[in-house]
Amino acid sequence: MKINVGLLGMGNIGTGSYQTLEMNRKTIFERTGLDIEITRILERDVDRDRGFFVPKEKFTQNPDDIFSDENIDIVIELIGGIEPATTFMMEALKNGKHVVTANKAAVAANYDMLLETAYENKVMFRYEASVGGGIPVINALTKALSANEFEEIHGIVNGTTNYILSQMTDFGLDYADVLKVAQEKGFAEADPTADVEGIDVANKLAILMAICFGIRLAPMDIPRAGITAISKEDIDIAASMGYKIKLLCSAKKTGNDVECHVKPTFVPFGHPIAAVNNEFNAIFAKGNAVDDLMLYGKGAGPLPTGSAVMGDVIEIATAISKEVAFDLPPVKENKELKYIGEGADERYIKLSVNEDVTLGDVAACLANNGLDIKSCRQLCASDDKKGRAGYVFIINAVSGKALETALEKICKDIDSVKVSSVINIL
Ligand code: HSE
Repeated sequence: MKINVGLLGMGNIGTGSYQTLEMNRKTIFERTGLDIEITRILERDVDRDRGFFVPKEKFTQNPDDIFSDENIDIVIELIGGIEPATTFMMEALKNGKHVVTANKAAVAANYDMLLETAYENKVMFRYEASVGGGIPVINALTKALSANEFEEIHGIVNGTTNYILSQMTDFGLDYADVLKVAQEKGFAEADPTADVEGIDVANKLAILMAICFGIRLAPMDIPRAGITAISKEDIDIAASMGYKIKLLCSAKKTGNDVECHVKPTFVPFGHPIAAVNNEFNAIFAKGNAVDDLMLYGKGAGPLPTGSAVMGDVIEIATAISKEVAFDLPPVKENKELKYIGEGADERYIKLSVNEDVTLGDVAACLANNGLDIKSCRQLCASDDKKGRAGYVFIINAVSGKALETALEKICKDIDSVKVSSVINIL
């Protein structure tokens, strides 16, 4: 059976998806009996060197050439960003096309609308590549693990930041230099601010919250910090204490309360997430039947993401061939669970004070302001920090809000204090 596909956007991921199909088209045909072809491509940059031949007549600059083409069954959206991508996906769904996307920003912003529109138009909507790149995490959570209630999720779901932190940790490289390499390798977003500020991770966590807990969150409402403030000194201190710093998305259900956040986090060396390096991603989940489980793979890059995109296309094409290509009604929001923001975690705090302020003075001030100190240490003063003393504290579990209030009071109590790092501990 022949299945024709329209592709919206042939940048890095579009190129990787096209290449995945061309590379394995024969194998896919042998496995499924489906001859899948990308027949039309919406893309301005026709002449870009993609490393392989793409017939020029496939390109168009008019999206309606794809939406109104009766021979096209499936539309892949790989433009990125919320608009015009969402409008294009809605247009395709309303025109009876099945839609596949890797667009986490658009899916996180319009989750219910896209799923409901697919259902109403008796077509399928798939978004596997939107979280975890090549890792089939959405398939796993919504199908193979759907017999579970989820209790916890922790994930490294941004390849760019994991690549940067890994290279800074393993080779002592500079943040800016490594970011440039991540961009060259096609991991980073067009504007890498979304990667390094944790916005991309918040989009992905919003999708995971909807899937795992039925909770709808606007990504901007998720408590979040990126990696721009992480210094080599933080990385070295973490290592000396038995931790690696990773940008994590975390969610946890306690009774009917669900907390979540996106934060750089100290991960103990012994935790499987600590071994996830470079552009690799991992999603660690705890289900009430399966218990602990971790999915691992490349979370960014043209071919790994192309693998997930084409997996969705093949699922839909197979359903078309069986004449069952429609979605069931989407799972509604879970009104029984309550989202409570960021929960309580242990924290690492690094601060500096004038050298006449002792470790005992600072510790007493932290304790007086309600922080429960688990351990502390004095840092050696470097030449550029003459006259200042640096201290590191590990604080027993405290909520984000309580910590913020305590730090504000500490800054009033000790004139010379400067809080340089606050990092969650897994
Ligand atoms: N910029 C994203 C990342 C791409 O680095 O993970 C995959 O979503």
